[in-house]
Amino acid sequence: MPANRAPAEIGMTVHNVDTPALLIDLDAFDRNVRRMAQQAANAGVALRPHAKTHKCPAIALKQIALGAVGVCCQKVSEAEAMVDGGVQDVLISNEIVGHQKLARLVALAQRARIAVCVDDRENIAALGQAAQAAKIALNVLVEINVGADRCGAAPGEPALELAHQVSTTAGLSFAGLQAYYGSAQHLRTAEQRSEAIGAAIRHARQTRDMLHRSSLECRIISGAGTGTYSLEAGSGVYNELQPGSYVFMDVDYARNRADDGRPFSEFEHSLFVYTTVMSHTTADRAVVDAGMKALSVDSGMPAVSGIEGAEYVGASDEHGTLKLSAAAPPIRLGDKMRLIPGHCDPTVNLHEWYVGVRNDRVEALWQITARGPGF
Ligand SMILES: Cc1ncc(COP(=O)(O)O)c(C=O)c1O
Repeated sequence: MPANRAPAEIGMTVHNVDTPALLIDLDAFDRNVRRMAQQAANAGVALRPHAKTHKCPAIALKQIALGAVGVCCQKVSEAEAMVDGGVQDVLISNEIVGHQKLARLVALAQRARIAVCVDDRENIAALGQAAQAAKIALNVLVEINVGADRCGAAPGEPALELAHQVSTTAGLSFAGLQAYYGSAQHLRTAEQRSEAIGAAIRHARQTRDMLHRSSLECRIISGAGTGTYSLEAGSGVYNELQPGSYVFMDVDYARNRADDGRPFSEFEHSLFVYTTVMSHTTADRAVVDAGMKALSVDSGMPAVSGIEGAEYVGASDEHGTLKLSAAAPPIRLGDKMRLIPGHCDPTVNLHEWYVGVRNDRVEALWQITARGPGF
């Protein structure tokens, strides 16, 4: 059996989809994609959705058709898959290190508009050499650490020095700043998120102003995720948003609270792991065929969609254990159900296909061509 066999065929009813499979509720998905496009347009900022969530050129092209300027990727391999799938504009919102990856990066920049982030002098020099060898001018953003303490140079003077180096390195063109605050995305209250992003905005503004005073044009200030995008959009500083998870919304994001303290419900759950009950030997326990090979539990367990009294309580490699309370409806061997993933990005990475469903029928099969460890 080929490894990339799809679990469904176009036109079949959802019940006949083999499991475990990754379903997209196309109506909810369309609403999510449109809503974010509209929000960015209303704020007058560019939308560059993050493809690390979906890893699928077919979805990227839908986002672009609705106004996105391109997509972000984290890895050269993801960017290659996007360009192979027809995407013409990719920001690698990440640092790329190592001569093999740099060679592939500049080769990609010969056939699409590519930008990349840096936070290190030696990396800038290596990028310049690779770009010169490929006879291209590579767009480069200096990443600043706005609070997440992951990648990124310190804002202000250290970032300014790197921007100067980029602008004076043959083969490179300074394009702006990457200022993403990842750990702020899942802060649970609106107040916490607002405080964190307030600090990020101050860092980005201060660095931008220093660049301007040094006559370095900072065309792009890019950042934001699903949890905080409205803050960056309204900042007057960021002019490009890179949210990813909004297309699918996972259980972890649904734990965020909105301004009024209610669950963050701006986007709908559109991604599900479809699974079959494979064992049901006691009244209070059922076992489904979606364990850790079919979903990621790094941000908590998946939720069982639409079945009261059924809770997914444990994942092993090929098994998921459901605890059934007295409120649960009768469950039979072979029953199929939808699980809402705890964390969408790593769950998607485990699958080869999306099965897009509408009105109880399979309408689309989209291959997840950018999946994998990402070399
Ligand atoms: C650099 C960068 N930008 C944007 C995103 C998108 O964030 P989210 O999926 O929370 O919308 C991520 C996610 O990890 C990221 O690493």
